[in-house]
Amino acid sequence: MSDILHAEVMDNASEETKRQFEYIEKAKGYVADLAKELGRTPKACVVTFGCQMNARDSEKLIGILSKIGYEITESEEADFVIYNTCTVRDNADQRVFGRLGFVGGIKKKNPHMKIALCGCMMQEQSAIEKIQKSYRHVDLIFGTHNIFKFAELICTAFESDRMIIDIWKDTDKIVEDLPIVRKYPFKSGINIMFGCNNFCTYCIVPYVRGRERSRSPRDIIREIEYLANDGVKEIMLLGQNVNSYGRGLPEDEQISFAELLTEVCKVDGIKRVRFMTSHPKDLSDDLIKVIAENEKVARHIHLPLQSGSDEILKKMNRHYTKESYLNLVEKIRKTIPDVSLTTDIIVGFPGETDGDVDETIDVVRKAKFDNAFTFIYSKRTGTPAASWEQVPEEVSKPNFDRLLKVVQETAKEQALRFEGQTHRVLVEEINEQDEKLVTGRMSGNTLVHFPGDKSLIGSFVDVRLDECHGFYYTGTMV
Ligand code: 5AD
Ligand code: SF4
Repeated sequence: MSDILHAEVMDNASEETKRQFEYIEKAKGYVADLAKELGRTPKACVVTFGCQMNARDSEKLIGILSKIGYEITESEEADFVIYNTCTVRDNADQRVFGRLGFVGGIKKKNPHMKIALCGCMMQEQSAIEKIQKSYRHVDLIFGTHNIFKFAELICTAFESDRMIIDIWKDTDKIVEDLPIVRKYPFKSGINIMFGCNNFCTYCIVPYVRGRERSRSPRDIIREIEYLANDGVKEIMLLGQNVNSYGRGLPEDEQISFAELLTEVCKVDGIKRVRFMTSHPKDLSDDLIKVIAENEKVARHIHLPLQSGSDEILKKMNRHYTKESYLNLVEKIRKTIPDVSLTTDIIVGFPGETDGDVDETIDVVRKAKFDNAFTFIYSKRTGTPAASWEQVPEEVSKPNFDRLLKVVQETAKEQALRFEGQTHRVLVEEINEQDEKLVTGRMSGNTLVHFPGDKSLIGSFVDVRLDECHGFYYTGTMV
């Protein structure tokens, strides 16, 4: 657990950062008053839905909440609860509404409690309208573009009894150097870019996360150096499409993702570098070379396929074909033989036939994915595909099931290829089921459970992979 603010950073903080620190001071006063009233330290809970980007944003929320005096708890029986929402598929939305109903019951018993909502789902007008109508107990709503204003918004919520709603449509602002509390002391995500310009026809992300903006490479490296000094050994560079990093940067800062990755690997103390997510259309030969030649870069590429059918790929606006995707996979596997490849696949996209799914299954067999996240298409209002003729569940569900079967077979076969080998893992935690075991993550992202104790957490150790259990291994430290 650490705090990114330090004097040196404050010296060159932007005007906006300074303004927010003034609100942090003000909010501290409000929380201190509440503590007096309650006769104890007020508690805050952050509930996160969605992807790694949201997980990182939640570390920023916790950073502010800790700084202003809240004790952080996992329980929603708290004095301040915030839901950091996702809207990539409808079931993510439904889960949030379910939680809101539940937490409303808690608030009835504790009227001073504050409930807040932020994240991707809040960028949708229909969600806001539903909350205004049916969830009047919510105190504060903001979106993805103004999360840096969290301290200011907390102050406003303390000053008013009305529901505060502050949603921005888009922003070109990137506000640096606000407090962050990391979930893990030894590893961290780092935003290298925000937003997305790809407009895949099924996807809501460009509408809720706005246009693509790359952070300055200097700011990224400075943050990573700070993290390394603070004990971080593994980092994950985060962006919706990291391969297009650098577009739109000023001329004197022009740099490609492959070059950025090379620079990041040079930071002392950083032992392993991951990145997420790659778009197949932008993954360059240079990047493959940098990964192959630099052993600090994790042997893992997440390369969303979405579909193996040329016709569906075209309708999805993906800008690659089954053949070009498979060629890319072949090139990657040839240049980086020990790489793990994972993917995302959607079944039931408008117009998809059984024959299209056969094509997808064919790619899964040929690409030999180490793992694949499979999703049933979810209609997102506002995206082009939402207005096209939808595939009935009677068609998509059986197709989903037969795809999943092949995905699981392939993943198991792939995992078996490492059995008996010794791999370096970063020990992340005590095993949830058995406290005599610890869990480590391999470079390829697979987990291995082996005998050990908490003194190992945060260190790299070599582990023999004794037995493959499908998606994970059990092993022995050597
Ligand atoms: N329906 C189903 N899955 C989706 N994804 C994105 N949008 C949708 C949607 N409308 C999946 C994609 C993406 C992953 C993060 O979520 O596979 O890669
Ligand atoms: Fe992440 Fe997309 Fe969900 Fe937002 S909508 S949390 S960017 S997956």
